[in-house]
Amino acid sequence: MKKLWGGRFQKSAEEWVDEFGASISFDQELVLEDIEGSLAHVTMLGKCGILSQEETDKIKEGLLRLKEKAERDELTFSISEEDIHLNLEKMLIEEIGPVGGKLHTGRSRNDQVATDMHLYLKKQVQSIIQLITSFQETIIEKAERHVETVAPGYTHLQRAQPISFAHHLMAYFWMLERDKKRYQESLKRIDVSPLGAGALAGTTFPIDREYSAALLGFSGVYQNSLDAVSDRDFIIEFLNDSSILMMHLSRFAEELILWSSQEFQFIELDDAFSTGSSIMPQKKNPDMAELIRGKTGRVYGHLISLLTVLKGLPLAYNKDMQEDKEGMFDVVHTVMGSLKIFNGMVRTMKVNESKLTESVHHDFSNATELADYLAAKGIPFREAHEIVGKLVLHCIQKKCYLADLSLEDLKEASPVIEEDIYQILSPYQAVKRRNSLGGTGFEQVKQQIQYAKELLSQPLSNDKRQMDLPV
Ligand code: ARG
Repeated sequence: MKKLWGGRFQKSAEEWVDEFGASISFDQELVLEDIEGSLAHVTMLGKCGILSQEETDKIKEGLLRLKEKAERDELTFSISEEDIHLNLEKMLIEEIGPVGGKLHTGRSRNDQVATDMHLYLKKQVQSIIQLITSFQETIIEKAERHVETVAPGYTHLQRAQPISFAHHLMAYFWMLERDKKRYQESLKRIDVSPLGAGALAGTTFPIDREYSAALLGFSGVYQNSLDAVSDRDFIIEFLNDSSILMMHLSRFAEELILWSSQEFQFIELDDAFSTGSSIMPQKKNPDMAELIRGKTGRVYGHLISLLTVLKGLPLAYNKDMQEDKEGMFDVVHTVMGSLKIFNGMVRTMKVNESKLTESVHHDFSNATELADYLAAKGIPFREAHEIVGKLVLHCIQKKCYLADLSLEDLKEASPVIEEDIYQILSPYQAVKRRNSLGGTGFEQVKQQIQYAKELLSQPLSNDKRQMDLPV
């Protein structure tokens, strides 16, 4: 079949060759952005007198008809038209006749595809930011109910010190907050128009790039036409920001998987977010959390893939760049899906408070309390550490915990120990007393949650947050 660019060709490629080069199977996801870009371009051509008013109106009308069809999912794309741009141009000509061929005046597919990608990513990143916010709200709600739920805190996955369960949940709030800011910050670089850069060198037509950029809602235009058509940094940045977000989700997923195991039993995931086994009737598997952990791998993969695609490319456009799309689409879908699932999973999970309480009463995670107690009474911390270490060993041999020791036993280890030690050894008190800024003390956790709520109620752009330290 004759190609839209077929003038200088004497024979056409075979179908299987066309198929290899075509991107329509995936870039049809850009259909609405491509039409939007064309509408702005043709409006600009009309305003600058490059096309007559009549031609402009006709093309716009045709594009709007295609838009309606696209929204109703009525367009049928074909591989022989290679990509979304040529498919739509062909359809436009079919729709309104040869005048449709004037749309491409002063434009190339190179600036066209870059424009589509900028428009697409801007929209998707804004939606992702909203999904992160709604997940953060869920975390806050859950945390608020568990400020005074005392849970084991770990380092090296060994019991370390008791903490507020809300404090643990809120750690993820702050990771997501940084993720959100990274996306927000990246919008500055996404929100720039390459339209009008032409194939690589600009155009001889008296176009107005700032006008078309404004019509598309972009905040600025690229200052160099070569850069405009060959820049994919904004996509790499998106893949990078998404990799960090997925790394956070994956760590959280890993914790939910551990916590819901028979060994921990700290939480129970809702049936709606779990699956059974086809052979073992007793099983309830945390599949959704595992999948999110697993999908993190493909997101990292797309980041490395695009960095590698671009590393050796001479300026300006090269067909290699068509490889920027599938990874980007996949990451958009993966990140959105993972955030929605995670939100539901955390909202519906049951926290097994009695199991958490029981756990912190059956370990040595209050050993630091005893060492701090001795240090507060003037014993050098290093010595206090040694005394408590010996007491722990003694307990292990006697098969008991620190709070089970009699006052005599304790006094034998150090005469400065008094009756008040039992109060100090209680995990609840241990948490409560950690009232340093950002610590797990209940008052601190309440303040943290309050601060987090205030952040969510402010627009992101006003944000001068995290630490308002005097400078
Ligand atoms: N489908 C192409 C892509 O995604 C559009 C740009 C094609 N430009 C060209 N000169 N062949 O990269």
